[in-house]
Amino acid sequence: MEQHIRVLLDDDKGGRRAAISLVLLAALGLVFLLRRRGGDRLSSFPGPRLAAWTRLHSVAAVLTGREHEMMLEAHRRYGPVVRWSPNTLLISDPMALPKMYHLRANKTPHYNHSPGEFRGMVEENDWRKHRQKRHRMDPPFSSKSVQDDEPLMDAFIAEWIDALTTKFTMPNSQVFDFSDWGNYLVLDIVTKRFFGREMGFIKHGDKTRMLADSRANGPAIHALARLPQLKQFLLHKFGRFLIPTAGDGSGLGNVLALRDEFLQERLAKDEKNPDVGLDQVLFDSANAGMELEELKEDILFVILGASDTTGHGIRCLVRNLLQNPSCLVRLRKEMDAAVMPPVGTTDRPSSITFAQIKSQIPYLSACIRETLRRDPPIVSYLPRWADDDHNGTGGVELCGRFVPAGVEVACSPYVLSRSRDMFGDDADDFRPERYLESSTPEWVAKAARYDFTFGYGPRQCIGQTLSHFITCKTIVQLFYHFDIELLEPGSGKAFLNWNYSGLKIRLTRRI
Ligand code: HEM
Repeated sequence: MEQHIRVLLDDDKGGRRAAISLVLLAALGLVFLLRRRGGDRLSSFPGPRLAAWTRLHSVAAVLTGREHEMMLEAHRRYGPVVRWSPNTLLISDPMALPKMYHLRANKTPHYNHSPGEFRGMVEENDWRKHRQKRHRMDPPFSSKSVQDDEPLMDAFIAEWIDALTTKFTMPNSQVFDFSDWGNYLVLDIVTKRFFGREMGFIKHGDKTRMLADSRANGPAIHALARLPQLKQFLLHKFGRFLIPTAGDGSGLGNVLALRDEFLQERLAKDEKNPDVGLDQVLFDSANAGMELEELKEDILFVILGASDTTGHGIRCLVRNLLQNPSCLVRLRKEMDAAVMPPVGTTDRPSSITFAQIKSQIPYLSACIRETLRRDPPIVSYLPRWADDDHNGTGGVELCGRFVPAGVEVACSPYVLSRSRDMFGDDADDFRPERYLESSTPEWVAKAARYDFTFGYGPRQCIGQTLSHFITCKTIVQLFYHFDIELLEPGSGKAFLNWNYSGLKIRLTRRI
């Protein structure tokens, strides 16, 4: 788990920091000097010149915060297969997804960030072990389980609307930064569902500094993902300085402490509470022999993986609707015609079910889909090893090129979703109608089949249904209760996902 590494050391550890920086620099220099030995089997693949020589090309791209745009530019220049490091090929053709992210695809060391022997499902490289680990985590994320928790979500969304009202509209409407408010809501819902107790983000904001710290550490963590050997060396030699521990005062340390406390609380129970997601895992006899350390990794990733993805989606959807008033007018019209009487009438229902939203406000689903396409929360590339055991040739054909087994191959959600081949010349625009009347049903189905926003294949996002559910319900309630004025759309860089801030808005209660 990427946030596992704390690279920013406390100020009073200046000496150690200098020593580690030296080792880091020396190792980087070594990596730079080492060219691939034994011939260059990818020499015929196009790409930036430096990429053929060193992984530092890919590291530099991350550190700019523009890696996603650089990858897109490279594909537009070099074509659907681009060499991005000595042993990494990026692919931009969505038709290649089934051949890359198939049932038996193994993850590369890009994902390994823990020095210990225990790996949660996200870090698990081996497809067989992943299947087992994923299976035990599935129950709390099933559609039925998410559906059953609708009243719980309604309660948190109501608390969230109240908090926004009290803090930012009383006594007068004031300008504030909305960027993290989606994260706060998602984190409270997810932790309440999973542990039976929320972390309290709606009440206290990022008091634990979990969001702030994970964003501050993002560039270094994602840069190191591109240098797996160096990363493993550093983790083994300097792990105790780099890896946060429960209660060490860092943002992630605070979250680890809370996670351990919540887990102990559930372990101390004698019987299963069917409403608590973690109990569905802990009390399942099929999981009796599971390693607690592995489960801890999985739980942590659920917390971390939920917020900056769904929160980013909510933030961008709000911004996109405010920047495209005709879309907001259409959405409001559907909302008002559905179960919500128009503003100014009495007896307004305060809650609307997910089923009603789906059947009566189809434009909302199109807006969500379009936002996640145009502004995918995860933008970086997601690598796998090229296949080696199906066709007997020792490799796989991708986009008409033979790729030898043992090469790292990867797609990026950002690159695929900005494809002009797939989405046309207005791929950069926000146009939800592309999923409705302005496209054929065949095209809409194809776009869904090759959607990479939530990944692809057996490791596709486990929280997709939950995320969609929360986003639908939240957006309806937000625009039902408030008129919203956009003052500053904010900006952000992207490492694995967006590091985004500054969505300045003003709320006025509609009811
Ligand atoms: C808009 C919201 C979200 C987006 C765009 C998103 C995106 C993704 C992507 C692209 C992957 C695949 C990574 C890979 O193949 O390397 C993934 C995996 C995962 N996501 Fe999400 N995610 C979202 C929301 C959530 C939520 C709400 C949760 C949990 C509550 C979650 C938990 C996970 C987990 C645990 C995995 C790993 C699955 C596995 O390895 O089998 N995500 N997500």
